[in-house]
Amino acid sequence: MTNTLILYSSIDGHTHKICQRIAHQIETQQHSVTLLSIDAMAANNTDTISLTEFDKIVIGASIRYGKHRKNVSQFIRQYKTLLNSKPCAFFSVNLVARKAEKNTSDSNPYLQKLLTESNWQPKLKGVFAGKVDYQQYRFFDRQMIRMIMWMTKGPTALDSVIDYTDWVKVDDFAQEIHKL
Ligand SMILES: Cc1cc2nc3c(=O)[nH]c(=O)nc-3n(C[C@H](O)[C@H](O)[C@H](O)COP(=O)(O)O)c2cc1C
Repeated sequence: MTNTLILYSSIDGHTHKICQRIAHQIETQQHSVTLLSIDAMAANNTDTISLTEFDKIVIGASIRYGKHRKNVSQFIRQYKTLLNSKPCAFFSVNLVARKAEKNTSDSNPYLQKLLTESNWQPKLKGVFAGKVDYQQYRFFDRQMIRMIMWMTKGPTALDSVIDYTDWVKVDDFAQEIHKL
């Protein structure tokens, strides 16, 4: 039985949902999973949870205005040596990835940027398209996302709730984690 840590960085909950699905897939194969937000991990300062206890580490993070949250790259930089010593996976969740030409680890600009800037190459990399839900956003964010969607030929109706995630791809990714 392996012990996997899944860390997530999620603002509106979608990346968390993807991580829950991955956790469920791994658990159904009789392996143990700990699911934690990267914020909780940082607040803990890893005192109560020791990263060395885990056989595998998975990090999933969403994009906000062109970037993963700061504590994601901070975490990678801080624990890079340890991350390099274990089977690790990283995936990014963003709306650009709803376009076929931007939804692989080689073609998604956000994933590429994070990995280049942090000089880290996890064994497994993934990209998932995220979710649009205008009603969930604050006024300013709603206007901004709507403008971006208009520019990129996405949905602009303010009652749009569209989950672009390919859940079969998420399940396949969980299988790849299992094989690491
Ligand atoms: C305020 C805001 C800014 C966003 N900026 C981007 C962006 O720059 N590029 C992109 O591809 N997706 C962007 N997204 C889409 C999110 O990455 C997507 O909705 C994702 O599912 C959010 O995941 P989360 O709920 O785990 O935070 C943005 C979403 C919001 C609400």
